Amino acid sequence: MPSKYPEDTRILIEEGLRRYFPETRYPEEIYEAMRYSLFSGGKRFRAVLVVEAAKVFGHDPGFVLPTACAAEYIHTYSLIHDDLPAIDNDDLRRGKPTCHTVYGEDIAILAGDALYSEAFRLISGMQMADDPGIIVRVINELATASGVAGMVGGQVVDIKSEGVDIDDKTLDFIHEKKTGELIKASVRAGAILAGATGAELNLLTDYAKYLGLAFQITDDILDEVGDTAVLGKTVGSDKRQEKATYPKVHGLEVAKEMAKAMTDNAKNALRALSGDGSVLADLADFVYERNY
Ligand code: IPE
Ligand code: IPE
Ligand code: MG
Ligand code: MG
Ligand code: MG
Repeated sequence: MPSKYPEDTRILIEEGLRRYFPETRYPEEIYEAMRYSLFSGGKRFRAVLVVEAAKVFGHDPGFVLPTACAAEYIHTYSLIHDDLPAIDNDDLRRGKPTCHTVYGEDIAILAGDALYSEAFRLISGMQMADDPGIIVRVINELATASGVAGMVGGQVVDIKSEGVDIDDKTLDFIHEKKTGELIKASVRAGAILAGATGAELNLLTDYAKYLGLAFQITDDILDEVGDTAVLGKTVGSDKRQEKATYPKVHGLEVAKEMAKAMTDNAKNALRALSGDGSVLADLADFVYERNY
């Protein structure tokens, strides 16, 4: 991982994921498929955001670990379903064959379903807070972000826009919803658990909106200019599927400029924060500079 990525936090999350993951029972195959996708690498970016947003307010990182791991469960579920033949039809993920390639479409669909429900079981069962109302708020944030008004809605427009000329507004809708919302909810969940005030939450929400958009723009760019071996996904997948991407609509150079502008906007939003936002600023730089 590059120096700008908080490696200590990533390791903490890996430990949390191992600790909270349910023990294998009958039927073993589904646990195996879930484990296969969850523990095959990944940057743990959303989980890192939960922890780092909480740390801005001086919070102990271990305290928000169940929610951080839940965000990673939701993300991994979304990847398993995103790779299915009916959606993006990809056979490489995190440097390994996709879940459905190994376990079949039926088990992959169910592994995604199971990870999604495990996420909310983990928060409702393990996340502590002074006031239980805070837990309900966190669940609401993540459910809204991943549901029909968030990721699912974005994925629908993504699929419907294959091979179609779309306007800038629709492109932004896809990116903000399919990717931006979960990134935003991860930042907000960490901050809410750490007791952020309304004003601080607004600043972090602005940061996260720009960060989420930058993240999907760089994802699109890497699909064109990345290296499959480093990325762990097949470069050129978007072109094959005629996906609506920033490079397709705006051209590669403009897309890069837009990713940079979003990164700068994200960092600017942190300026008025009372706590230390330096790691969140580093994460914004990471998003722009990343090659995986
Ligand atoms: C890929 O996410 C899917 C998007 C929403 C762009 P990541 O790039 O965070 O994938 P992993 O978790 O590191 O594998
Ligand atoms: C993914 O967008 C959005 C999700 C909700 C998973 P992509 O389809 O571009 O993600 P990758 O490139 O397959 O990781
Ligand atoms: Mg997709
Ligand atoms: Mg995809
Ligand atoms: Mg992509």
